[in-house]
Amino acid sequence: MSFAAAWEAACDVEGWLTEAQARRLFAAAGAVPPGGQIVEIGSFRGRSAIVLARGARADVEVVCIDPHAGSDRGPQEIAAQPALGEADLAAFRRNLERAGVSDRVRHLRDFSTMALRRFDGPVDLLFVDGAHRFRPARADLVRWGARVPDGGRMLVHDAFSSIGVTLALLTATVPRPSWRYVGREGSLAAYVRASPARRLGETRCSTGTDFAIRIAAKAALLSGDISVSLSSSTSSCASPAIRLKVVERQRRSGCNTWTVPNR
Ligand SMILES: C[S@@+](CC[C@H](N)C(=O)[O-])C[C@H]1O[C@@H](n2cnc3c(N)ncnc32)[C@H](O)[C@@H]1O
Repeated sequence: MSFAAAWEAACDVEGWLTEAQARRLFAAAGAVPPGGQIVEIGSFRGRSAIVLARGARADVEVVCIDPHAGSDRGPQEIAAQPALGEADLAAFRRNLERAGVSDRVRHLRDFSTMALRRFDGPVDLLFVDGAHRFRPARADLVRWGARVPDGGRMLVHDAFSSIGVTLALLTATVPRPSWRYVGREGSLAAYVRASPARRLGETRCSTGTDFAIRIAAKAALLSGDISVSLSSSTSSCASPAIRLKVVERQRRSGCNTWTVPNR
């Protein structure tokens, strides 16, 4: 199955996943070993579920968790709207059927915290795109993340575009050195679980520099009326009132550290 065919089947389904992000999801699903398990938290109408199911080998189970309660559908749609949830569920089933992956997906119609009790075994690929508020997003990252074994992967949508998810990621992954940030596609952040033994020889502080640069920029944005443009090395913000050099890369003792000069 090619990515082009998978995207052809998914691109008309309502949702926020971009083609480039879908490509990354597709590749990650294809890399899950035989007999492995993929878990998606937050399926909505099936756009990402179709990509995962099309990308995964036939002997990999794809579990999609969504209560379809009409709650937390997006940043402005927090409160439950049951009729919308039912419409999403009907669309989800219809879209999976049309994409030919209904029998490839096990749907748990439940909130992610509850679904955890109904799920056994390790998660080789965890895709988190459920509730975007800080507490439930963090619970997904911590509790479901704990099911990802060494070498497993976690992809998180809206990592840099939703403040609740950004803060959840920051507090859930930075204190846990076993999560190694391996890049992003737009606002889709990618992590690999790497035990301390596996990380021997890596420099701890080289982890997550891209993540850090974005957090710094976001903090700068929140703290004042400024605009930010980022490049891969040095970044600058400019506004009539404030000129702020956001991030300055410094090499110290062979490590990369990032500072935010207040100028
Ligand atoms: C942004 S949409 C997911 C989009 C989907 N991944 C896609 O690419 O089309 C968020 C979804 O998360 C679901 N959701 C909200 N709270 C949840 C929770 N606690 N557990 C699992 N799913 C949840 C909502 O019902 C909604 O369908």
